[in-house]
Amino acid sequence: MRAFNIVTLAISAVLSAKAARIESCTEPNTIALTFDDGPYEFTNELMDTLKAHNIHATFFVNAYNYWKDFPENKEKQQVWVRAKKEGHQIASHTWDHTIPDDDKELEEKMKKLDDLVEANTGYRPKYVRAPLGACNPECVDRFEKLGYKVIQWDTDTHDWDVEKDDDDQVIPESKDKRVAAAKEFLKGEFDQKKSNYMILMHDVYNHTVSEIVPWIIENNPFKDYKYVTVAECLGDYSISVNDTTANNSTDRSLVTGNSTDAQNLTANGAITNQMFSFSMMITFLFGFLYFLF
Ligand SMILES: *[C@@H]1O[C@H](CO)[C@@H](O)[C@H](O)[C@H]1NC(C)=O
Ligand SMILES: *[C@@H]1O[C@H](CO)[C@@H](O)[C@H](O)[C@H]1NC(C)=O
Ligand SMILES: *[C@@H]1O[C@H](CO)[C@@H](O)[C@H](O)[C@H]1NC(C)=O
Ligand SMILES: *[C@@H]1O[C@H](CO)[C@@H](O)[C@H](O)[C@H]1NC(C)=O
Ligand SMILES: *[C@@H]1O[C@H](CO)[C@@H](O)[C@H](O)[C@H]1NC(C)=O
Ligand SMILES: *[C@@H]1O[C@H](CO)[C@@H](O)[C@H](O)[C@H]1NC(C)=O
Repeated sequence: MRAFNIVTLAISAVLSAKAARIESCTEPNTIALTFDDGPYEFTNELMDTLKAHNIHATFFVNAYNYWKDFPENKEKQQVWVRAKKEGHQIASHTWDHTIPDDDKELEEKMKKLDDLVEANTGYRPKYVRAPLGACNPECVDRFEKLGYKVIQWDTDTHDWDVEKDDDDQVIPESKDKRVAAAKEFLKGEFDQKKSNYMILMHDVYNHTVSEIVPWIIENNPFKDYKYVTVAECLGDYSISVNDTTANNSTDRSLVTGNSTDAQNLTANGAITNQMFSFSMMITFLFGFLYFLF
C-alpha cells in the first residue's frame, strides 16, 4: 500500500505540476528572435530586414504602449496585417504593458488585445510574455487559466538597458556601449553552440533594428540554425527544412486560429484542472487507505 501511495503521489505530482514559464525552445538547431513592446516606428524596417533573409520572428505586442493612438489607427495596425502575411507570429504582451491584479480585469484586457490582433490577422494570440518578464507562479497560473502559454527567454541582449535624455531619446554614447556589449554577449552565446536560442529584443529601439539584428544575421552560424517563430521552436508547429508549405504564413503563425478555437483552448484548460482535482482525490483516497492499514 505504501508503494501504491508513492506511485499515486508521483502521478499527481506530474499532473499537478503547474507548467512554469517557458524559458527556452525545445526544437534543436532553432533560433527564435523575439521582440517586445511594439509595434512602433521601427517595426516596418525590422520586417524589411527579416524579409530580405527569409526570417520569421515573434512579436510580443501591446496595443497601447509606444503608439498611443494605435488602438484607433487602422493605418498603423497594418503593421500586424503585414507581420501575419510575412509569416511572423504575433503574441500577447498585454494590452498596455500591465497585468491587472483583478482577474476579471485581466481577462477583459487580454481579450481586448486578442480581439484587435484577430481583427488584423484572423487569429488570436496563444502565447503571452509578461511585461518585464515579471510573472511569478501565481501570475503564470492566471495566464494559463485563460489559455495562454507563458513565454520567457534564455538570451537577453539587454537592448533595453540604455540611458535616455530628458526628451526620452536614447543617449548616443550609451547606445554605442550597449550595442557593443550586446554583440560581445551574443558572440559568446553563439560560440557555445547551444541547441537553441530564445532571444529577447525590443522593436521599439532604433539600435536594435538598425544595428543588433543586422549583426545577428551576419554573424550567427546560419547554416546550423533555422530562424523560427516561438510556436515553431517549441514544436507546436512542426518544421521541416524541406517543407514546401514552410512559407505559408497562415500555418506558420500557428496560434489559435480564431475565437472558436480560443474557446476550445479554455475548455482544454478546464480539462487540465479536472485532471488535477481527480489526481488529488486519488491521492487522498490512497493516503486514507494507507492510514487505515
Ligand atoms: C536610426 O539609426 C540609424 C543608424 O544609426 C540612423 O541612420 C537613423 O537616422 C536612425 N533613425 C532614427 C529615426 O533615429
Ligand atoms: C531535405 O532535403 C535534403 C536534400 O534533398 C536531404 O538531404 C535532407 O535529409 C532533407 N531534410 C529533411 C529534414 O527531410
Ligand atoms: C521561401 O521563400 C524564400 C524567399 O522568400 C525562398 O528563398 C525559399 O526557397 C522559400 N522556401 C520554400 C520552401 O518555398
Ligand atoms: C496555406 O494555409 C492555408 C490555411 O491553412 C491553406 O488553405 C492553403 O492551402 C495553404 N497554402 C499552401 C501553399 O500550402
Ligand atoms: C474559425 O476556425 C474554425 C476552425 O479552425 C473554422 O472552421 C472557422 O471557419 C473559422 N472562423 C472564422 C471566422 O475564420
Ligand atoms: C471545439 O471543441 C468541441 C468539443 O470538444 C469540438 O466538437 C469542436 O470541433 C471544437 N472546435 C474547434 C474549432 O476545434
